[in-house]
Amino acid sequence: NTIDTFASRLLAWFDVSGRHDLPWQHPRTPYRVWLSEIMLQQTQVKTAGPYFERFVQTLPDLPALAAAPTDTVLALWSGLGYYARARNLHAAAKRCVERHGGELPRDVEALTALPGIGRSTAAAIATQAWGDRHAILDGNVKRVLTRYHGVAGHPGLPAIERQLWALAEGHLPDDRLADYTQAQMDLGATLCTRSDPACVLCPVQTDCRARIEGRTDELPTRKPG
Ligand code: ADE
Repeated sequence: NTIDTFASRLLAWFDVSGRHDLPWQHPRTPYRVWLSEIMLQQTQVKTAGPYFERFVQTLPDLPALAAAPTDTVLALWSGLGYYARARNLHAAAKRCVERHGGELPRDVEALTALPGIGRSTAAAIATQAWGDRHAILDGNVKRVLTRYHGVAGHPGLPAIERQLWALAEGHLPDDRLADYTQAQMDLGATLCTRSDPACVLCPVQTDCRARIEGRTDELPTRKPG
């Protein structure tokens, strides 16, 4: 397995243009990574920042979250919306205290078994918290990969999603997994945007099928019906 062009270009771009100053990166603990990933599931980085800071000031670690009253957790979430996220977070923390010694389990299977953590979120946590080697596939990454590989078909369809997971796994670098995860998210959020992507600034523009074929406005394929 030689050096993957896609991954190495993303990492080089990330060094120069990626986001290195996000609140959950300093310090980057499993608990802080987890909390940030749950907040960022439905909330933009800019909005989540102040909520994240307030949350970790009040509840600095997983045992503190597990021991907190539900009202406290919900109050800290107040304004972010999608309150099931806060309830799942709280329930997951309690389960980690009961079953995993008060820590997040370093295992994507065990992470996925926790409330509120799906396959991509588990991978985002494992790569960023421990540098473990897993592919992520959130909305941003789906957009990047459908364009880069020219994959037509709505990414929510199971067959397309399977294909995208395989492509994502095929690009995984051998190291710098935390940076690679963040690089993909940053590329999707800042350059490879849904409308009007900044292809001229993109590190993989020369090999991007959508860019080459002038189809960035058609990919990813919109939901049918
Ligand atoms: N969305 C989900 N996780 C993210 C992250 N780590 N950085 C930016 N956006 C994200």
